Amino acid sequence: MTTATATKGLEGIIAGDTQICSVEQGALIYRGYEIHDLAQHATFEEVAHVLLVGHKPDAKELQFFKDELIANRALPTQVVDFLHAAGPMLREGTAVPMDVLRTAVSILGNMDKESQSNSAEANLRKAKRLTAKIPTIIGHMQTIIDGKELVAPNTGGDAKLSHAANLLYLMSGKKPSTEFAHVVDVSLILYAEHDYNASTFASRVISATLSDMHGAVTGAIAALKGPLHGGANEAAMEMLREIRADIGPANDPAKIEAWMHKAFADKRKLMGFGHRVYKNGDHRAPILHGLGRKIAEGRGPEFVRLFELGEKVEKIMLDEKQIHPNVDFPCGMTYFVMDIPVPQYTPIFVASRITGWCAHIMEQHANNRLIRPIANYTGPKLKKWNG
Ligand SMILES: CC(C)(COP(=O)(O)OP(=O)(O)OC[C@H]1O[C@@H](n2cnc3c(N)ncnc32)[C@H](O)[C@@H]1OP(=O)(O)O)[C@@H](O)C(=O)NCCC(=O)NCCS
Repeated sequence: MTTATATKGLEGIIAGDTQICSVEQGALIYRGYEIHDLAQHATFEEVAHVLLVGHKPDAKELQFFKDELIANRALPTQVVDFLHAAGPMLREGTAVPMDVLRTAVSILGNMDKESQSNSAEANLRKAKRLTAKIPTIIGHMQTIIDGKELVAPNTGGDAKLSHAANLLYLMSGKKPSTEFAHVVDVSLILYAEHDYNASTFASRVISATLSDMHGAVTGAIAALKGPLHGGANEAAMEMLREIRADIGPANDPAKIEAWMHKAFADKRKLMGFGHRVYKNGDHRAPILHGLGRKIAEGRGPEFVRLFELGEKVEKIMLDEKQIHPNVDFPCGMTYFVMDIPVPQYTPIFVASRITGWCAHIMEQHANNRLIRPIANYTGPKLKKWNG
């Protein structure tokens, strides 16, 4: 019998300390750096260094870090073979890209010579290898879905391209414009870290048993997939597609309002809205919205119409429910106007959050105690098996 009280969803519970990130309504901070500052002035590689190594790199450290990532981009044959084998599963729909990515990461663990070591040095090396290889898994998977040849399978891309640009190149076989590469780079910065969110917490629970980094990341990918968490960027775009199919090609305000009021009456959760911590708006959402809208404007009226629809939906949510969009809502629209296939939106989130997860796994291993809360029993009273 316990006297502790339960909080559904652990809302408001401080579950541990971290030096990696602070998520508050006032500011989102990665190791002392504020998110607007990072989005405007840093690259994803620099942010990854801040999260994984622990400090802002100088020019030499950054070059070394980038070279290490580039050198580790290519995938082992066994993972490429698995991706080919997964093609029919993806086409038949028994698996989605997040499931295939999860299994591919698990296979990488089976093949990593340091998989069973939780030393700080081995963990950092594994974190870099995972960060380097995840975009290649996503890119090769997409070309297999599209029935095309793999892009640069021996090198995992083009050594001259940044992490973000190379991800787009691996997926499409086309070198992206500077603008597209920049916007994906910023999205990776925004998604990289968010303290004890569900997937990171899952990764810490797994690592706290002294299990290994690949196992913890595999579990984190499963947690991120859900539409209440990272899966919301795909779900938000699917919802906008559904609204478009229901209301037709024009953004008729009366039809949008009618669609929203039906959703409210059905008590439907609108994807890409709301947040456990940010009740007055997500710092990341306006940054990505602005960048995505600019791309839409460059591409033409059909793309701008998508953003206008999203903006109308946002206004109705705010006016009538006082609920703000989270980063996944503009992310869905932004990736869509860049022609990124919708089922890869959450895998791209993984390509970024891998840095946050690994930073937390390392922090957990460095100062560990088993994470084991207690439950409030609400089951049947004691009874006899025979009688
Ligand atoms: C993120 C999320 C899981 C947070 O959940 P939470 O902290 O448990 O929020 P709550 O369920 O306590 O929400 C409070 C109220 O707002 C409503 N609400 C919250 N998010 C909503 C949404 N997206 N659509 C409609 N209503 C929503 C809840 O229904 C609840 O209403 P009630 O008090 O009448 O029951 C939730 O907002 C959600 O499901 N959002 C959609 C999925 C999403 O975008 N996830 C990505 C998060 S970054």
